[in-house]
Amino acid sequence: MSLTIPSGPRTPKTRRNDSTMRFGLMWPNSPSPNVTSGVMAAGNPDVLQIDSHIALAQTAEKIGVDFVFFADGYTNHGKHNARVGHGEPCISAPIWAPIVMAATEHIGVVTTMHARYLSPVVLARLGANLDVLSGGRWGWNIVPGSKGSEEALFGLDDPVDHDERYALVAETLAAVRTLWGARGEPIDFQGRYSHHQGVPRGPYPIQESPAIFNAGVSEAGKSFIAEHADYAFFAVTDDLDAVKQTVDDLSARAEAAGRDPLSVSAAGSIGIVLGRTHEEAQEKYRAIVDSVDMEAARGWARGFLGGSQTYQKTFGTDLDAAARKIGVAAGSTVLVGTAEEVAEQLIDIHRSTGLRGYMLLTLNWNPEEVALIGDVFPHLQQAGVWTPPAERGWSW
Ligand SMILES: Cc1cc2nc3c(=O)[nH]c(=O)nc-3n(C[C@H](O)[C@H](O)[C@H](O)COP(=O)(O)O)c2cc1C
Repeated sequence: MSLTIPSGPRTPKTRRNDSTMRFGLMWPNSPSPNVTSGVMAAGNPDVLQIDSHIALAQTAEKIGVDFVFFADGYTNHGKHNARVGHGEPCISAPIWAPIVMAATEHIGVVTTMHARYLSPVVLARLGANLDVLSGGRWGWNIVPGSKGSEEALFGLDDPVDHDERYALVAETLAAVRTLWGARGEPIDFQGRYSHHQGVPRGPYPIQESPAIFNAGVSEAGKSFIAEHADYAFFAVTDDLDAVKQTVDDLSARAEAAGRDPLSVSAAGSIGIVLGRTHEEAQEKYRAIVDSVDMEAARGWARGFLGGSQTYQKTFGTDLDAAARKIGVAAGSTVLVGTAEEVAEQLIDIHRSTGLRGYMLLTLNWNPEEVALIGDVFPHLQQAGVWTPPAERGWSW
């Protein structure tokens, strides 16, 4: 494993709206981000060491992952999650993403940044700098901030209900795009939540419009995505009819909004556990499930179900039932098997639902474990559903 930083120009990402698959990797932002398990946390690399991130970033790029995705938040899910290293400590997305940007040349790097907590002026400045620093490879998961504990932490007294949060997100994005469009000239933005006048300092983004992700597919979320975003982010569950419905609904809404339906994709989160044999993969998965800490799983489920209609619809409101699923891979389906078996499952999901984008959740994030995903891609290529990113200009 080379930890050398490449020195040449980076590849700016372009859009290519086609029907082939794209793969993102949920970035490890805590010791065990995808399983509520102290055992997994202890076996993973040290999340607070820069080298851990360089090694994983270079592995992800080498095997052909399209983008990595940094989730983020300001309060943890409770003392049990903190105890097991699930979501605690949690590295700040815009601060640690530049390590991945510096260590790689082509892969996209998406950061979560909250509309409600930061001024559009700060968000525009952070985003423009991240896009320039990456050489035009940055994407933004624009989230409103939906946790009551975060509202209290920020001292926000005005309640903003679910649908209004999306209105706030849409306006924030419009304000940020106005600030990015200034290019040295004065702007004047008058919104309901903020107003801005003057000339923001450069740099300005390299990409005409960095890729916009939205986490959540409630009715209000889907409307926002269809009109303004490039990727919807939601969990792939075993209910593939529901996944297909979401995919179809997003396409129909994008078309109704006057956009090419292929310009709105999805990043469906899906767990992955690979082994050299079927038995080895099953054994790894069983050990992971057995190591789940149920108190921490309940903490995670409580956090998700509190503010997200997407999660309430997917997992119901019975806390214990939801926690049993959410403790591993946040309740997403977990594909377990050899590279060939997992490829077959992915092809089935792709063909039966039309889902093109996948956000891979690695339960063990050691680089040698993540490298195994590279053996899945050739099977997808053979089936004609995936093209190596290098052969399509590392497009989004
Ligand atoms: C798959 C997924 C990932 C999410 N990731 C984050 C995150 O990293 N940070 C955050 O503050 N909120 C996150 N959220 C919460 C959403 O931004 C949103 O506030 C919440 O889901 C409510 O919207 P909804 O009803 O449309 O789902 C996530 C939601 C989903 C479904």
